[in-house]
Amino acid sequence: MQDNAITGILYVAFGLVALVTLGKNDVPNIRQHPDNSAVRVAVALNAPDDGPTQADGTYPAILAYNEVGDYIGWSDWQHRPHIKSGGFHDVIIEQQKGPGQQATYLQLFAGTDAVCIAYISQTWADGTTRGWLGDMGRACGRPYYYSHIFVGNDGHVPDCIWMDADHSDDPDHDMPAALQIHMQEYTNLTTAYSRDPAHYCDEECIIFHRDPTKHLDFKKHPPKEDRLFRGNHPPGGPCCMDDDDGYAKRNRQRQQPRNRRPPALAARLVSSPHGKHSATDLCGSELSHGPDFVSWSERVFCDMGTKVSWPLCGSGGSVGGEEGEGECYEWETHSLVTGGRKVARHYATVEEWG
Ligand SMILES: *[C@@H]1O[C@H](CO)[C@@H](O)[C@H](O)[C@H]1NC(C)=O
Repeated sequence: MQDNAITGILYVAFGLVALVTLGKNDVPNIRQHPDNSAVRVAVALNAPDDGPTQADGTYPAILAYNEVGDYIGWSDWQHRPHIKSGGFHDVIIEQQKGPGQQATYLQLFAGTDAVCIAYISQTWADGTTRGWLGDMGRACGRPYYYSHIFVGNDGHVPDCIWMDADHSDDPDHDMPAALQIHMQEYTNLTTAYSRDPAHYCDEECIIFHRDPTKHLDFKKHPPKEDRLFRGNHPPGGPCCMDDDDGYAKRNRQRQQPRNRRPPALAARLVSSPHGKHSATDLCGSELSHGPDFVSWSERVFCDMGTKVSWPLCGSGGSVGGEEGEGECYEWETHSLVTGGRKVARHYATVEEWG
């Protein structure tokens, strides 16, 4: 059990491998039978379907496998809790096919509401804890956003990775619908862990799947038999969205701005005082996706639709030289001051992160 307190979680940020120490508040806190394990999923943002929203169904459906790849258990697929933005939920993995075994591989299947996952943590049957951070989404070239969830004893705020099963919130079609994570790889088990950032996006560590759900019915029970995904890239290569990887590439070649957001996200504004949450960086990233964003530490507003950033009014900055003279974002009225006029943004929700 001494392992619990000091699980180090490896992640990649800004091209470097870093380490966070998982605290006891970061792991599942739910009573489990000693045959079973538990999984926590924490989300930064939850984008409800525009259609009729059910109270549940946003928590990913989970399958678990042991270290040799045998299918050992599942979460309750029919009663999947709804996770609020900025919240988490703990679920039990029923290990009927492998009582007491270590659930070192997890497969998570998103629902049709897009969610942005900040971290996933586990407690195995034997009490060992493991964790994985949403930072790996950006590191592995997947759509991401900031989170306001603190993990570990050092106050790390991970980025979150978007998942969406039906790609309704995913106009560029590059969000995974499922993740397969080898949880074991993200722990610093020896001091000789890999220092190569690319390793942690390798298919031995993680597989991003665009459309795994053809044969799975999430309204029913988990499958009786299942197996691990295999990457479609050569072993050791960077991993992987399935067959349709060409879609994102084609799109990028057309140089279309990644500005097509579902209305629910476009009608939302997020602000954060956190020094790590740079609006300029978010705006400058091709992979970022989500609501418009205000950074109080920079005093900058990022229009995530156009990926253009504006100084807050009264900050003394201006947009793009003479032309942009006097142009700014006015927080008080939530409008852009441009060409001598105020253009209201009409947000339905403004979320102020503390
Ligand atoms: C792993 O990380 C933890 C927490 O940061 C640290 O206490 C431990 O010594 C590390 N273990 C190894 C083998 O590097």
